[in-house]
Amino acid sequence: MTRGLAGVVVADTALSRVDGERGELVLRGMRVQDAARLGFEALVSHLWGEPVELGAARVQAADLLRRHSWVGGRVATPRVAMDALRAAIGALPEVDDCVLVAAVGVTLAAWVRREDLVPDPALGHAADLLRMIRGESASEAEVEALDAYLCTVVDHGLNASTFAARVVASTGSDHVSAVVAGLGALKGPLHGGAPGPVLDMLDAIGDADRAEPWIRAELAAGRRIMGMGHRVYRVRDPRAAALEGALGRLGADQGRLELARAVERTAERILEAHRPGRKLRANVEFYTATLLEALGVPRAAFTATFAASRVAGWIGHAREQEATGTLIRPRAAYVGPEVAAG
Ligand code: COA
Repeated sequence: MTRGLAGVVVADTALSRVDGERGELVLRGMRVQDAARLGFEALVSHLWGEPVELGAARVQAADLLRRHSWVGGRVATPRVAMDALRAAIGALPEVDDCVLVAAVGVTLAAWVRREDLVPDPALGHAADLLRMIRGESASEAEVEALDAYLCTVVDHGLNASTFAARVVASTGSDHVSAVVAGLGALKGPLHGGAPGPVLDMLDAIGDADRAEPWIRAELAAGRRIMGMGHRVYRVRDPRAAALEGALGRLGADQGRLELARAVERTAERILEAHRPGRKLRANVEFYTATLLEALGVPRAAFTATFAASRVAGWIGHAREQEATGTLIRPRAAYVGPEVAAG
């Protein structure tokens, strides 16, 4: 059976390189561990190769969202955060790329608070998102932690959502459409939908001693362990380390962090026996869950928070694809019946 497009090179990119054997992620010449400390606007400027200013863009985005989408209160707020994002972003007219990035963050906050929010253009993107999500100002350490998260997940080679966005851009379509395609792909639990379930798992396990029987029972029931395994990495996802570092600096609930570490160790050991040689290690979602929880982001909004960062990667890839002027058009292997003779 043909297995997706695994390993097939379909585009050139200067945005990021994922080395699955060495466990390295490079963002336009910077290791992810260093990029994580740059600040989101500075990193997006670095990736796009032009100055990016998101303060005024958030104000403009809020105004547009109010006029065009559920954020304005004319229709009911979608129950699922990613549906809410898809609907709100999909309702936008063609906008400036900075406004499009800002719009995802503003929509995320409006969905969490279920209210029309007023962005503060004087704040950095991470600080304002956290302020709007929580309804109160965040500490410097918390802002730094969210900034580190946004930087860590901004781009990651030709992952499923980025590929989806690039395919749309390759047809000559607009960036709003490319971002909506990315959102649709990111919603899936095999891609961006895992951090909520990771937290459900930590809750269900509760105590490090219970990790082993719980994980064994999940595998016996034919379920996957969320936050473990990756299509590309055969070692621990370097983004897990970047987020673990940010969590350490945040000084959040140490008990929770210790539980996460213990569950990771146990899952790694059991999965090695379960799928010998497949090297199923922690992926980015594992510590995303712990970090976003520590920042007070509700778990139902985790994937949407991921989108608030990745949108900048999607746009960077859309721009690259447009510059090539090439339509992405792979082929499927036909395995249907042949035309009946006679
Ligand atoms: N728990 C249990 N088993 C797992 C597993 C996990 N987290 N991840 C992979 N496996 C198993 C598969 O069932 C498969 O077994 P099989 O050959 O008997 O069918 C084997 O390991 C190989 O997996 P494969 O399907 O080739 O991996 P993939 O490259 O297609 O999948 C993921 C990568 C990320 C989709 C997969 O590891 C997964 O589902 N992880 C959990 C979800 C998650 O954390 N997603 C976030 C990704 S950043």
